[in-house]
Amino acid sequence: KASKELSHSIRDKIQDIKKKMKKKLNKVAKDINLFLKKFILKQKKTELLKPIRYGLLPGGKKIRSKLIIDIGKIFKINYHKLIQIGAAVECIHAYSLIHDDLPCMDNDRLRRGKLSTHAKFGESTAILAGNSLLTIAFEILSQPTLKIDYKTKISLILLLSKSSGHTGIAGGQYSDLKFEGKKQSLKKIIDMQVNKTGKLFSFCCVAPVIVSKKNKYINLFNSIGSKIGLLFQIADDLIDYSGSTKKAGKKTRKDSKKGKATLISLLGYKNTVKYGDKVKLDILNKIRKFGNKTKDLADTINYILIRSK
Ligand code: IPE
Ligand code: IPE
Ligand code: MG
Ligand code: MG
Ligand code: MG
Repeated sequence: KASKELSHSIRDKIQDIKKKMKKKLNKVAKDINLFLKKFILKQKKTELLKPIRYGLLPGGKKIRSKLIIDIGKIFKINYHKLIQIGAAVECIHAYSLIHDDLPCMDNDRLRRGKLSTHAKFGESTAILAGNSLLTIAFEILSQPTLKIDYKTKISLILLLSKSSGHTGIAGGQYSDLKFEGKKQSLKKIIDMQVNKTGKLFSFCCVAPVIVSKKNKYINLFNSIGSKIGLLFQIADDLIDYSGSTKKAGKKTRKDSKKGKATLISLLGYKNTVKYGDKVKLDILNKIRKFGNKTKDLADTINYILIRSK
């Protein structure tokens, strides 16, 4: 009975953490979407705007932007600047999801609790909306309204480019698809996940450091970012394995059917949970030296794994 009560109190605690974080994420999502809506309104009207808005605005957690805000807080960066950088990241992320769902990739019809963009508007439109989101990201960073000196801005644009293309998301997605149905080593799987997911998280962790010009911290936050991205992908894989379609807003239990090379496919579910815990502790150790200022960041990192529980 005592252990039952204990597990109840743990479950209550988890629910409590989830609720608090969701509230914070909603605030970030609101500010990001407000920025994006205003930005889109100023653009020339085209027929692609409908699928672009559909794939971009409703339903995303905006966890990448939350990380930008958390780390921006450590380095005392202006909130509006962080939101504008987050908006660019969310465009890249939305593009990657629209393409990830295409029939030639993961072939998924459900995303963020509704039809995926290709299922709603057709494949060619989804590809073009995705392409447009990729370039809108760089338009956003290039805006004069983002009050950052040019040299710093170009550093941000350079890093976001590298994080998105063949050395980042696109390269990782290529490996993810090539690895289907084939057994891969731990190192190969981790490299793939760091590219497809970790590189964009690294950008989020490094961008506030670049803006603050505290260049000596760039390497540290680059490595923290790829670990947070790896952790995030592990949690996503755990949710695919054991989560509900309704809660996830996307079809679960698909990775094993597709023969995806994940840590779960190599190590099993339980060992993957343990691996995730280890990665999390490693990240928390790395940020410890920044003291109290990292409270929000630590909460977000903890939430990433709690999400899969
Ligand atoms: C899903 O990302 C794709 C992965 C990299 C695992 P998110 O879980 O952040 O997707 P949204 O934006 O909240 O829908
Ligand atoms: C996608 O990973 C990573 C991207 C960079 C888009 P997944 O294929 O596991 O993402 P979900 O589960 O479809 O959201
Ligand atoms: Mg995929
Ligand atoms: Mg997918
Ligand atoms: Mg997944």
